[in-house]
Formats: sequence, C-alpha cells, structure tokens
Amino acid sequence: MIIEPKTRGFICITSHPTGCEQNVLNQIDYIKSKGKIAGAKNVLVIGASTGFGLASRITSAFGSEASTIGVFFEKPPSEGKTASPGWYNTAAFETVAQNAGLYAKSINGDAYSKEVKAQTIKLIKEDLGEIDLMIYSLASPVRTHPESGIRYKSTLKPIGDTFTNKTVDFHTGEVKEISIEPGTEEDIENTIAVMGGEDWEMWISELKKENLLSSNFKTVAYSYIGPKITEPVYRKGTIGKAKDHLEKTAFTITNLLKDIGGKAYVSVNKALVTQSSSAIPVIPLYISLLYKVMKEKGVHEGCIEQIQRLYSERLFLNQVPQDSEGRIRIDDLEMRSDIQAEVSKLWEQASTETLPSIGDLEGYKNDFFHLFGFSYDQVDYDKESNEIVSIPGLQ
Ligand code: NAD
Ligand code: NA
Repeated sequence: MIIEPKTRGFICITSHPTGCEQNVLNQIDYIKSKGKIAGAKNVLVIGASTGFGLASRITSAFGSEASTIGVFFEKPPSEGKTASPGWYNTAAFETVAQNAGLYAKSINGDAYSKEVKAQTIKLIKEDLGEIDLMIYSLASPVRTHPESGIRYKSTLKPIGDTFTNKTVDFHTGEVKEISIEPGTEEDIENTIAVMGGEDWEMWISELKKENLLSSNFKTVAYSYIGPKITEPVYRKGTIGKAKDHLEKTAFTITNLLKDIGGKAYVSVNKALVTQSSSAIPVIPLYISLLYKVMKEKGVHEGCIEQIQRLYSERLFLNQVPQDSEGRIRIDDLEMRSDIQAEVSKLWEQASTETLPSIGDLEGYKNDFFHLFGFSYDQVDYDKESNEIVSIPGLQ
C-alpha cells in the first residue's frame, strides 16, 4: 500500500512502517556512534514505544547491551487503517535488537491496570529474574484506577486565572491568541491521578513485593519545568501539579527501596516535539522559537541525544548530579540564560508574518511528521510498503 500523512487536529491518523523503522535505525546509529555506556543490564521501560521512553529503550539496548522489556499502549494495524507509530517503532526495534542477539520482549496494554502489571511480573520472573533499571515514561490523557475503577481524565489548564497568550497552529503557521479557562479543583485532582506518581509507586511496590529488583536498582521518571512564558499552562497549571506529585513520589519510592539500596530519580527533560507535547497549547510556538535558537547555537538535541546524555553524564556516574530539589537536569541547555533571553525576545515579535523567519516552524513540522514515519529523505514514499502485523517479542 501507499501511505500518506492524514492529519486531524493535532494528530496524524496514519503512520508509515518504513519511515518509523528509519526513525528507530537513526536512533540506534546515534547510540552506537557514541560508544558503550556502563549502564543497567536488565531494563523495564513503561511507555517504551515512542518519545523519551523509546529513546531510553534504545539507549539501554545499544549503549549497554541490555535486555529490555517494553510496555506500551499501541494499536496494531486493522482493516484500512495503519498501526499507531509506536507499533511500527517497536517492531523495528525488536527486529534489530533480536538480530543483534539482544533480548527484547514487549507487552501491549494498559500499564495502569493490574493485568498488565501481573503479565510483566510473570515475564520478568520467567526470563530475566530481576531488573536493575525501570524507566517510567508514560504520557496518557486518561487512567482507569485499578482499585476503584474510576476513569480519570487529565487536563492542560491554568490554575486561578484565565491564561491568554499566543499559540501557533503549526500546520498552517497561523499565530493567534488563545485564552484558556482555569481548571477546577476536580481538574487538578484528576490530572494528578493520571500523570502524578501513584501508578509509578504501584509498579515499584508490586515489583519489589515479588523480589524482582536488584540491589542498586534505579528507577527514573521524566518531568518538565520550562520557561516563565509557558508556566501558567504547564508548570503552574494542572499538569504541573501532577509533575509536583510525580517528583514528590521519587522520595517515597527511594524510601521504599532503602533496604535494597535502590533509588528513584526524576529527570527534567527538554521540550521536544512528541505526540503528547504537540497537543499542549502555547508549547508548539515556544518549541519552534527554542529550536531556532538552540540550532543556531549548535546545542539542539532530540529525545535520543537527551537520553544518551542522561545515561552517560548523569544516571550512571558514582555521584549522580542533582539540583536542590533532588532532580536530575538534562534541560540545562534549554534553560541556559542566553537561550531563554533570546527566546523571550523572539516571543514578543512572533506573529504569523514573522514566525517563518524568526522561528523554526519547518523544524517543528519535520519533527512532527517524523513521529509518524513521514518526511524522511531516505524513504521512498512512492513505493508500496508492506504492512507489519506482528512485533517479534510481543507477548
Ligand atoms: P509519548 O506520547 O511519545 O510517549 C508516551 C508513551 O506512553 C508511549 O509509549 C505510549 O504507548 C505509552 N502509553 C500511553 N498510555 C499508556 C497506557 N495506558 N498504558 C501503557 N502505555 C501507555 O510522550 P513523551 O513526550 O515521550 O512523554 C514521556 C514522559 O516524558 C512524560 O512523563 C512527559 O511528561 C515527559 N516529558 C516530555 C517532554 C516533551 O517535551 N515531550 C519534556 C519533558 C518531559
Ligand atoms: Na515515551
């Protein structure tokens, strides 16, 4: 079949198997080019199919020759519909990993559920015995609570006041003003229930109960802070409350792991184009200006560069560098004062007319289409592509 991108709102509803494979191969090549990392050997990644989680899985496997189990929630192909990109990404990753002699298996289902946790535990028991690293990289709009059955929805709203600022529709390039009404107390609680730390803690306590964590076990969850401009809708908004909770949970988990010498970390990562971030208002405009400035200064990074640096320059050092709140920072380049000063200046000037020259809208769009396997120079999109119905290590 010939597959073309079809966008609906902020998402693309088609994805390209060969292009997704290209995305994975590029990331693997990057990790190989950077040399070995003395990291973990048995790694569980929750949210392993796209974005930061996929980059973490690739870095573990091809940087440290780790055995990896990936958990994710992706759609297989069905009649007239392509699979979701994480499906093709995982098929490509597991094919290359297994050909390289690396253990790579996966579970496709709701990571918040008891069933998926039980299935993962069974697989670790049978195949790996124990794990020494767990990456928690879930990004989801909803969570059904495993005890109460209540279905929570997360929101991206300011708290207290209505927030009005600029945003861009990156498909058309139109810069316009938007106003977002403040969230209610209930919105805050629901967002914390979905994107806070409760599920991360549940995973770790289940794994520990089953004695599946090695001594010196580490777990890392990903967070974001960002600049003043996005604060009302991000860090000081409903999602920010969930990130506060996630960050607090790291201390709770570390406490839980005391007897085995384990530790939980939060890594604050850079703003990047992923399926999750393209849905957040205001952020795409910020990212397109940020990309422009960081590329000009030669310090731009994608997910794979970020995680390579997390592993090689932070997580596996004898002394893990942390900020005053105990967080690992790989958003250091994004937050550099010269970069932020430049972005704020451009923010003032940004309009539909100026953005093509002062921002990196093209880079944004390119990254967006890359997420779905499109716009890769190396791929011939006029060629029929084969559907990929199975993932080699899928349980
Ligand atoms: P993403 O959308 O690319 O990845 C989300 C992953 O979670 C996918 O593997 C998906 O399959 C999986 N998933 C979603 N719901 C699931 C469910 N119910 N069960 C199992 N798997 C499920 O997102 P991302 O941007 O890589 O985000 C990962 C983490 O990084 C999030 O905590 C996010 O807040 C954080 N982060 C993102 C950015 C950014 O700019 N994108 C910056 C800093 C931190
Ligand atoms: Na991810």
